[in-house]
Amino acid sequence: MTELDGLKDELLAQVGAAGDLAGLEEARLAALGKKGRITGFMKDLGALSPEERRERGAALNAVKDAVAEAIERRKAELGRAALDARLQAERVDVTLPVRPEAEGRLHPISQTMDELVAIFAEMGFSVAEGPDVEDDFHNFTALNFPPGHPAREMHDTFYLPDSADGRRMLLRTHTSPVQVRTMLNRKPPIRIIAPGRTYRSDYDMTHTPMFHQVEGLVIDETTHMGHLKGCLIDFCRAFFGIDDLPLRFRPSFFPFTEPSAEVDIGCSRKGGELKLGNYGDWLEILGCGMVHPNVLEACGIDSTRYQGFAFGMGIERIAMLKYGIPDLRTFFEADLRWLKHYGFVPLDVPSVAAGLTR
Ligand code: DAH
Repeated sequence: MTELDGLKDELLAQVGAAGDLAGLEEARLAALGKKGRITGFMKDLGALSPEERRERGAALNAVKDAVAEAIERRKAELGRAALDARLQAERVDVTLPVRPEAEGRLHPISQTMDELVAIFAEMGFSVAEGPDVEDDFHNFTALNFPPGHPAREMHDTFYLPDSADGRRMLLRTHTSPVQVRTMLNRKPPIRIIAPGRTYRSDYDMTHTPMFHQVEGLVIDETTHMGHLKGCLIDFCRAFFGIDDLPLRFRPSFFPFTEPSAEVDIGCSRKGGELKLGNYGDWLEILGCGMVHPNVLEACGIDSTRYQGFAFGMGIERIAMLKYGIPDLRTFFEADLRWLKHYGFVPLDVPSVAAGLTR
């Protein structure tokens, strides 16, 4: 018996000393494997008398059970320790941001266009588009600029070679030709805005040869000047985020609208600093008017039945005012430091409900 007691103690010690699952498996094989110590003793039972065999067999089985049980216990212990170690090592800080913030920034022009679209979409406008390379008809003639009219000269147009079918081609000088394309392609009621690039041969502190405008057009049977005013007042107050921003509609001239107006917003220039709001001074920001009957007719719309308004404004200008960007030319210098400073985080999509900018 002492021999088996010694064996048991020895095997249990081996099991207890196993530092990991691989070590434990080694101890198990050494005890219970085909060539294990207990298995060896079992084989020897055959040489004993039935009496001795029963006694020794029972004793051996007791050792075997004790060792097997110790192995299971150790296995569970080692498993728990391994899990603890893994939990320690693989700990995740769920308060960390999901991924690092994107490096790139949205250009203030893109941001401003997104904001415009968000506000006008809320008022029921959809977005229309037209080509940058236009012909004389869409850019001028259909908009009631007669051939040779001096207003054409004011646009400093970039002309291109005539098209194959003899049309005079140019880079559009404003987004107003999208009005023409929209009216030619759709029946009223029409309610669109058209943001996009425009081109004029001009370059100084306040002019770049490429710039952006947004055009607006509403055509139906009942829209009048009061709607025009309400729409633009709502837009300007929402865009600049100033609830009591005053607007002034000043009579003006455009060939494609009658009557025409230029819109000024309230500001202050005290101390050389420009501030928007109800301060008694004025700053011009856009042109507008009731669509001229000649334009409606040139676009195949019955001017005795339909009427409406249009407006156009420079996107750089309102972006500069809103975001305090002092020099127009910097918009197009592609300077990454400038973009980092004035740009916007791409995932902050502007919406009227959630706020236009962060
Ligand atoms: N197209 C004009 C420009 O570039 C701006 C403008 C004025 C557009 C009045 C309009 C409008 O639709 O009604 O100077």
